[in-house]
Amino acid sequence: MADRIINFGVIGCGLMGREFASAAARWNHLVGMNVRPRIVAACDTSPKVLGEFCSANPGVRAHADYRELLAATDIEALYIAIPHHLHEEVYVAAINAGKHFLGEKPFGIDLAANRAITAALRARPGLVVRCSSEFPFFPGVQKIAALIRAGDIGRVLEVRCGLLHSSDMDPLKPINWKRMVEFNGAYGCMGDLGMHAVHFPLRMGFAPRDVRALLSKIVGTRPDGKGGQAPCETWDNALLACTAVAPAGEAFPMLLEMKRIAPGHMNTWFIEVYGTSCSARFSTRSPRTLEVLRYERGKPQAWQVQDLGYESAYPAITGAIFEFGFADAIQQMWSAYCDEVANGTRGMRQPFFCATPGEAAASHELFDAALRSNAASSVEPVRAPSFM
Ligand SMILES: NC(=O)c1ccc[n+]([C@@H]2O[C@H](COP(=O)([O-])OP(=O)(O)OC[C@H]3O[C@@H](n4cnc5c(N)ncnc54)[C@H](O)[C@@H]3O)[C@@H](O)[C@H]2O)c1
Repeated sequence: MADRIINFGVIGCGLMGREFASAAARWNHLVGMNVRPRIVAACDTSPKVLGEFCSANPGVRAHADYRELLAATDIEALYIAIPHHLHEEVYVAAINAGKHFLGEKPFGIDLAANRAITAALRARPGLVVRCSSEFPFFPGVQKIAALIRAGDIGRVLEVRCGLLHSSDMDPLKPINWKRMVEFNGAYGCMGDLGMHAVHFPLRMGFAPRDVRALLSKIVGTRPDGKGGQAPCETWDNALLACTAVAPAGEAFPMLLEMKRIAPGHMNTWFIEVYGTSCSARFSTRSPRTLEVLRYERGKPQAWQVQDLGYESAYPAITGAIFEFGFADAIQQMWSAYCDEVANGTRGMRQPFFCATPGEAAASHELFDAALRSNAASSVEPVRAPSFM
């Protein structure tokens, strides 16, 4: 049977727009897919960025206004990867235009914007709208998901998850939109990195009930690229200590970290799950390494270190002994998204679907509570999201 082809438009052809184009262009990397994405049109307000994108991806139509993509009858789905202050306007317009889309996090610059997006979604339940989050597709994380789902962990004692950068260590790095409240939002690093820290715990059913937040502003000004200095207003680092509840009902501490200034870390995503029967740890810093400790009474408590290969959720041509990396995680996420659009959530080849608008809404409730907690040095309850 011929592959089902999903015609895509890309809105925002920057760092992440280009990653999708690369993942789509090497779809021959995957084995046994019955669906493939085809990027037919792209939109960026920067003529330079748009021109470079279309040169690198021949045959893609160029548009300066995203509304032209929403009106195009040959476009079934969109990838939307634009600054946070535009999420509400463009996501709501895409929903109202009846387009499926994978939208970048945080899915709205703040809680109000996120609620406007989910309100629009309520009226269009048939659309496959998902939020980008690629790290759970690393093979080590998929293996930890399998341990948790099998009940191997026992009672959950503690969970830690985070994303650590050192990209802002250099105080002379010029400012960009991700350091400006107007474009990135008051969440700062939580809006920028937070969904990466919360998606996997949420998917495992680890729901934060309250939060004590420690937010740090470290670099006060940055070069503005025009010879002067600009205020750098956003939170650089966030440490969220939550009381979380596991599906079985037990409460446990959950520590979430999202840092733009974490010495020595290029882009480290990590998960650590500690339980009474079994504990497991994974970090993209050592992407081949999965650590598991199984507790047996009277036996030595020893971490087993497993060397992982390319055991992806969606099979690929890469030999099982080779390494898996960031671009592979992006392609696996896109496989899950296209699989879900083509085959429905129940018909997917593997069960791990992309982050949902409900999970994005839960992240907003947490970050909003974290802002209040940091301002008042208080413990703030985290509301359950009104959209699941
Ligand atoms: N999933 C991830 O790992 C990851 C990594 C980085 C960024 N992101 C997210 O991706 C989104 C974009 O970030 P980025 O790093 O690609 O930023 P970027 O600045 O590299 O690209 C954004 C692009 O959007 C364009 N743009 C701005 N306004 C537009 C409009 N009205 N219409 C069309 N294009 C417009 C800009 O010209 C720019 O080229 C953000 O939501 C960010 O949080 C996700």
